[in-house]
Parts: sequence; C-alpha cells; structure tokens
Amino acid sequence: MLDLINRLFVRAQRRIQGIPRVSANLYEKLGTKYLEPTYNYVLENLMGKTIDTVLEIGCGTGKLLLKILDVMYPRAIVGLDISRAMIEIAKKNSRKIGKYPMVDLILADAHKIPIRPRSIDLIISTGTLHHIRDPETLFREVAEVLSRDGEALIYEFSHDISKEELKQSSKRLRRPSTLLKLTATLHGLPRKEYEEGYIKEALTKVGVVYDVYYEGITTLLKIKTSPETNNS
Ligand SMILES: C[S@@+](CC[C@H](N)C(=O)[O-])C[C@H]1O[C@@H](n2cnc3c(N)ncnc32)[C@H](O)[C@@H]1O
Repeated sequence: MLDLINRLFVRAQRRIQGIPRVSANLYEKLGTKYLEPTYNYVLENLMGKTIDTVLEIGCGTGKLLLKILDVMYPRAIVGLDISRAMIEIAKKNSRKIGKYPMVDLILADAHKIPIRPRSIDLIISTGTLHHIRDPETLFREVAEVLSRDGEALIYEFSHDISKEELKQSSKRLRRPSTLLKLTATLHGLPRKEYEEGYIKEALTKVGVVYDVYYEGITTLLKIKTSPETNNS
C-alpha cells in the first residue's frame, strides 16, 4: 500500500517539478522547521571538508544553503531551484540575516544547470531527486559541473526500511516515527529505486562512479565524477 502511495506521489511531483507558490509558503512556515534536524544531519556529514565552491540543487527556502555558508566558508555558493516562489523565499531569508551578497540564487532547471563545467567541488541536494523528471539528464549535468575531485551528495528519505531503523531514525532526528514514515512515503524514493529501479538505470546509463548509503530513513547517493566524464 505504501509503495503504491509513494509511486503516485512521486509521479505527481515529477510532473509538477517545481513547488508552486502556495505550497512554497507553507513549506517555508512548516516544512523547514520540521526538517531542521535533517539539515543539521547533512551539515554533520560535511564537517571537516574543505570546499571552495558549492551548488545546492533544489535549494528551496535556502535554509540549508545558508547553514553551509556559515560553517564551511566556501568562496562561492550557489542555490538553484526551478520554483520562482522558492527562489524569492531563499532571497528573503538570505537578506534577513545579511548574507544576500554572499550567495547566488538562480532560477533554473536542474536538467540544464547554467554553470561552467568542472567548476563545483560539492553538490548538495536534499529531497529533490524524487521531483526530477529525467534523472539520467540530471546525473549527466552533475558529472559535467563537478570539478575533478568533486562529489555530489544527494539525500532522499526512503520509506522501505525496517521498524528498528525507523526507531533509530526517529531518535536521531527527534521526530515521531509515524510522521517520518509518512514524509518518506509522500516525499521520498524507496531504496529499491537505487537497487533495481529507475534511479539505478539512470546512474548506470550515465556511467558515473557512485555509492549508495542507507542511513535509516535517509538515503545518501554519493556521486563522484567518473574518469570518462572528466576527460570528455
Ligand atoms: C521537497 S523540496 C526540498 C527543498 C530543500 N532542498 C529542502 O530540503 O528543504 C524540492 C525542491 O526541488 C525543487 N525542484 C523540483 N524540480 C526541480 C528541477 N527540475 N530543477 C530545480 N529544482 C527543482 C522544488 O521547486 C523544491 O524547491
């Protein structure tokens, strides 16, 4: 049953792609507060890395981007989103804390990233892959803009996990299990998509070097540029 609900929601989100204005405002008010521990979790995984240039794909309200700016001091940081409403909210949030001049917020489609090839050390994306209509094109774009030693960290929620894992995640993220499971069902990609589904297929077609890490309710897809794409 959850699989079916997930498939329907993912299909709808891939069709709509960008978050419309009403939902963007709601997301800003409720979603980002709820997701705060997830952003902190992503940040913890970044600790100790030295990064010059960062791109966030599907930056939404810019909350994570601004946190990354605060802890990593990159030379350049870019947030990209297809939703005009989200980009406006991200701009407002960066102005509010006086960081507007330090971030580039661009209205663009992740299927066509308007950034110079080989120029980004770190690509971050949270909760956006399930919106992407054509992951193969996205992975090609990612491989193209990543610098030689760069990597992309693409996070999604996955609902197809054990009860024990859900319990652990609930403790780690300080959110009720039922709510986490619901979020992962409505806004996520099951693990099986990385193992045998359309995500695996797209990764294989593009030929990037990648690893998938299952961290409870969170799935991390780590992409490194492959030697072939780097030399092309
Ligand atoms: C669920 S929200 C996640 C936002 C943010 N990363 C977070 O974790 O709070 C997904 C975001 O991806 C954006 N998005 C969807 N399709 C996109 C595309 N093709 N190109 C760029 N952004 C896209 C949506 O507009 C939305 O802001």
